[in-house]
Amino acid sequence: MKVVKGNIIFTPNKDEFKIIENGCIVIKDSNIVAVCDTIPENYSSYELFDYGDKLIIPGMNDLHCHAPQFRNVGIAMDKELIPWLNDYTFPEESKYESIEYGEKMYSRFIHEIYKNGTTRVATFATIHKESTKKLMDLFIQSGIGAYIGKVNMDRNSCNTLCENTLESINDTLDIIKEYSNKSNLVKPIITPRFVPTCSENLLESLGKLAVEYNLPVQSHLSENIGEIKWVKELHPDSKFYAQVYDKYKLFGDTPTLMAHCIHLTDEEIDLMSKKNVYAVHCPASNANLASGIMPLRKLLNNNVKLGFGSDVSGGHSFSIFKTMINAIEFSKLIWAQNNEYNFLSLSEAFYIATKSGGSFFGKVGSFEEGYNFDALVIDDSELNFDNYTLLERLERFVYLGDDRHIHNRYVNGSLI
Ligand code: GUN
Ligand code: FE
Repeated sequence: MKVVKGNIIFTPNKDEFKIIENGCIVIKDSNIVAVCDTIPENYSSYELFDYGDKLIIPGMNDLHCHAPQFRNVGIAMDKELIPWLNDYTFPEESKYESIEYGEKMYSRFIHEIYKNGTTRVATFATIHKESTKKLMDLFIQSGIGAYIGKVNMDRNSCNTLCENTLESINDTLDIIKEYSNKSNLVKPIITPRFVPTCSENLLESLGKLAVEYNLPVQSHLSENIGEIKWVKELHPDSKFYAQVYDKYKLFGDTPTLMAHCIHLTDEEIDLMSKKNVYAVHCPASNANLASGIMPLRKLLNNNVKLGFGSDVSGGHSFSIFKTMINAIEFSKLIWAQNNEYNFLSLSEAFYIATKSGGSFFGKVGSFEEGYNFDALVIDDSELNFDNYTLLERLERFVYLGDDRHIHNRYVNGSLI
C-alpha cells in the first residue's frame, strides 16, 4: 500500500480536466483505491511518496508502432506508403532474422518508449519468431505494458520478408502458447500486416486463432488511396476495405486496433462503431507518408473508439504528447478548410491519449478507483517561471516539454 502525493491532473471524460492541487492517490498493489484532497486517516500509515509541487498525470498509451523500424526513424521520408514499404521498410525488417540485431535495436526502441513517458504500447514486431520473443522478453524486463504482434505476411512482399502460410500460423501459435500466461503486462496480439500482404488462407487462420484463444487483433486500415485501390483489386467482392478483415473475424470479434483509418466510407465507420473497433490516429506518419488527414471529429461523433499511435517509423517521434499536438493542429487545418468539424480541444486530445487509448489495456488511463496506477510525475519547474495555473502548466508541458521533464514513471502500481 502506498500514497502518492502531488498536483493531480487527469481527464475522467473528454470534455474536462479534473485537477486536484496537492492531492493524493492511494494505491493498493497495482490499483487505485482512492483519489482525494488529503490523506484519509485510515491510510496515514501507508508509505508516502511526496512529489511536492510536481504534476502527476496518467501514463501515455501508444496504440500503434513498429519496433523493428527503429533504425529508420527520421530518415526515408521521400515516398508514399507502398514504395516506402518496398524500398525502405521491408529491407530493414528483413534484418530481424538475426536475434543479435533484434536484441540490439529492440533494447534501444524500448528505451525510447520509456524515455517519452509511454507506459503501455501495442507494437508490431516482424515475421521472425525468435526476435519477436526477444522483444517480448525485453519488454517484460522493462516493466512497460505491451501487446506485441509477430507479424504475419505471406504474399506481396520481398523474398526476404515473406512467409509460408502454414509456418506463419505455427510460429504464431508457438508464441501464443509460450507467452499468453508468462506476464500479466506483456501479451501477444494477432497481427496480419495489412490485407495486401495476407492470403485469404492466412487471414482465415488468424481470425480462427484470435477467436479460439480470445486474443486481440491489430492491423492497418485505409491509410493510402493506392492501398485501398489495391485491396479492391485483390478482393473485388468486398464492398469496402474493412469488410475483408470482418469476413475473417479480424474486425472486432475480439478487441481490435486499426491504424490510420483516413479514407473511410460511412459504412466502414458504422461497422467500426458497431463492433467497437479502435481507430488509431497516427498524425505524424500520415503527414510523413503523404497519406492524408484522419477525420477525427467525424469518428468521435460516430462513437468510434479512438487512440493515438506514434507509428514509428512512419512517424518520427516516440512522444504521444507530440502526437496530441499534431492531432490538434491537423484538426484545426481541417476546420480552416471548411467549418464542418470543430477542432480538437486539449482535454479531448489528452483523453484520447490516456483514458480512451488506455481502455484497450483494461482499466488503464485514468485516476479513478479500480484503475491500474499508470502515471508520470512531471517536473516542470524549468517551464513554470511565473504564476501559471495548474492547467496552464500541463498545457506548457504538453507543448514545450520533453523527456527531461518526466521525473518518474509508474506502470500498474510499480515505479519503473
Ligand atoms: N501498412 C502496412 N505496413 C505498414 C507499415 O509498416 N507502416 C505503415 N505506416 N503502414 C503500413
Ligand atoms: Fe503502421
